[in-house]
Amino acid sequence: MVNVHDLTVEEKASLTSGGDAWHFQPVERLGVPGYMLTDGPHGLRKEKSETAALDMKNTVPATCFPPAAGMSSSWNPDLVREVGVAMGEECIQEDVAVILGPGVNIKRNPLGGRSFEYWSEDPFLAGHEAVGIVEGVQSQGIGTSLKHFAANNQETDRLRIDARISERALREIYLPAFEHIVKTAQPWTIMCAYNQLNGVFGSENRWLLTDVLRGEWGFEGIVMSDWGAVHDRAASLNAGLNLEMPPSYTDDEIVVAVKDGRIPEEQLDRMAQGMLDLVEKAREAMEREGFVFDKDVHHRIARRAAQESIVMLKNEDGLLPLGAGDGAEAAEGVRVAVIGEFARTPRYQGGGSSHINPTKMTSLLDALEERGADFTFAPGFTLDRSEQTDELTAEALAAARAADVVVFAMGLPEEEESEGFDRTHLDMPAKQLELLAAVSEVNPNVVAVLSNGSAVQMNPWQENAKAILETWLLGQAGGSAVADILFGDANPSGKLAQSFPLDIKDDPSMVNWPGGDRVVDYGEGIFVGYRYYDTFDVDVAYPFGYGLSYSTFTVSDVAVEATGATSARVSATVTNTSAVDGAEVIQVYVNPADTTPVQRPVHELKGFQKVFVKAGESVRVSIDLDDRAFAYWSEKDGGWRVVAGEYGVEVATSSRDIVSRETMSLAGDDFYAELNEWSNYGEFKADTWGALAVQHMLEKGATGELPAIPEDNLGVQLFMETMPINSMPVLFGKEGRRLTQFLLEDYAAERAKA
Ligand code: BGC
Repeated sequence: MVNVHDLTVEEKASLTSGGDAWHFQPVERLGVPGYMLTDGPHGLRKEKSETAALDMKNTVPATCFPPAAGMSSSWNPDLVREVGVAMGEECIQEDVAVILGPGVNIKRNPLGGRSFEYWSEDPFLAGHEAVGIVEGVQSQGIGTSLKHFAANNQETDRLRIDARISERALREIYLPAFEHIVKTAQPWTIMCAYNQLNGVFGSENRWLLTDVLRGEWGFEGIVMSDWGAVHDRAASLNAGLNLEMPPSYTDDEIVVAVKDGRIPEEQLDRMAQGMLDLVEKAREAMEREGFVFDKDVHHRIARRAAQESIVMLKNEDGLLPLGAGDGAEAAEGVRVAVIGEFARTPRYQGGGSSHINPTKMTSLLDALEERGADFTFAPGFTLDRSEQTDELTAEALAAARAADVVVFAMGLPEEEESEGFDRTHLDMPAKQLELLAAVSEVNPNVVAVLSNGSAVQMNPWQENAKAILETWLLGQAGGSAVADILFGDANPSGKLAQSFPLDIKDDPSMVNWPGGDRVVDYGEGIFVGYRYYDTFDVDVAYPFGYGLSYSTFTVSDVAVEATGATSARVSATVTNTSAVDGAEVIQVYVNPADTTPVQRPVHELKGFQKVFVKAGESVRVSIDLDDRAFAYWSEKDGGWRVVAGEYGVEVATSSRDIVSRETMSLAGDDFYAELNEWSNYGEFKADTWGALAVQHMLEKGATGELPAIPEDNLGVQLFMETMPINSMPVLFGKEGRRLTQFLLEDYAAERAKA
């Protein structure tokens, strides 16, 4: 194995930038290969021309799995892992050592252009789902690149905007998905974000790339830049960035910087050694020859993943499923009209660097034909911006009139959602909504099948559909998956990974969205998504965690017990009370203790489990809550705190459907905040040793050894209470300094005795 000390400075420098847009640089003299790395994240996007960064769509065929917008609604980490394994196999076949994904940035605002590529508005969910991609891919000896580290939550001005975020919001919202995945799955690589975080570019942010990522979380892999995110190679290298992508062909500058001392040679060694280690990890898989993945097997995985990505938002009169569960035969006699161009031309992935060239493509029409379903089709509208025509409307209405049920395939056209820009509104295209209204007039039995990468405005149009399937973007097998759900061959089990606001103006980040003057302030702090809606009782169209099933479930016998000073276990029994096998997602939210000294959301997701329960059967689930489930980030103490107190633990089936709420006492962590001159008088009185110091000070006041505190002067008493003790001279003049000093010394002496 090649060690960094075998390399010349020039060779070491060469390892810290790519050979071209999609390869590491080899060191041929020592047999270090220049393996390939490429996008990601929901399938392999390997460009046919290996050097042209702009040849976005000319890529080798690969399975297009549902993008994160869909997969995240599965709440099924095992399924995500299976997808990861399949992606890893495709990388082996295509000689790709590292696939660029998953992206786990928080959906701060549903308008975010890459919402379709990101997992959730909730960091716990994002981390616990996306970790499956990392585990799955890496189980095949292929690397992943967790991206974009950190705070790439919008596309507007993404290459240079300065995201200004409090440390608490970073620690509680924007970093935990990264942290969880780093700690549990060690992604081989991490990709830094383009944007600045609190004034420092992601590529140069030593606090992020070295102190937090490696120092605190124990990251062992390498950090690469997002494509073109490096502006000062020496600064990036010193900050802990191993690899610049694509290369700027400036390795000679690194050599000079080492020679003139701007880059310590040990730092270059560390960064280059990381690259050598990475290449070694990939070697076994890259040396496999002749491996061919099974396209059909992967298509079937994509289909199952798509089934579980679908969220049933509404199902009035039990309109769905169309059959009784046995497919087309059972639906016989039901005349179905499929209306909407999306049924023929599916929207199955988002635009930009994640665009995959699928191995196979099944539209809803293909899937219906495949299963021999009896249906008519009318495109209803075009996907471009052209005006609606009377012919299209008339044809759609005629089809609707002649049918028992209308499946209305609607959504956002491709041009509305992509990497590179944010949406400016949540509205669905007007011509689709007008047609839907007209269709529902002639036939009220409408099933709306929605294709979109992030939340859309649901009102008032949703009144025109009795049933709604939110199908997100479902990848290449989406058509089959939708048909499976429509006919009851699959039972919807998806749950929303993001809230659907009634109006985008309700979103807490709107006051600072998308910023301006190259700055965006995350003024809403930790109150992102449901954390805000639920805390401030703001109505939503559909809450976080919501989704219906063809089954019905009850949740009973909830038990909550503390398992330590800062941990607990929750158990519950889930019973499927219907005649259909199905899955429910048990969600555990924690209510903060009222002893918490900072504002916290009314509840936060801290555990979940998807349970498959056969008709009429019950399953007992048990979910462990660790200390992070109860902790908040203390800006004052610079760390996580679990205060002693009564916490609430909710078992729920959405953030608004709480089945049970139990309270439980926790002893809390053993953190002790030392008092100092900035502690106030009240804090001294509340502290065991501080109170002794106060008592001794009062005693000395009575004997005249120290100035006396006027106990009958309410004004002084109140003022003192919240006054840092270093302000004593304000009330007691020069003598006040003796009081400050006495309190500090006496407190220290009492502490020393303890
Ligand atoms: C995107 C990354 C992507 C890279 C390579 C960048 O513009 O932000 O997510 O992996 O391009 O295509």
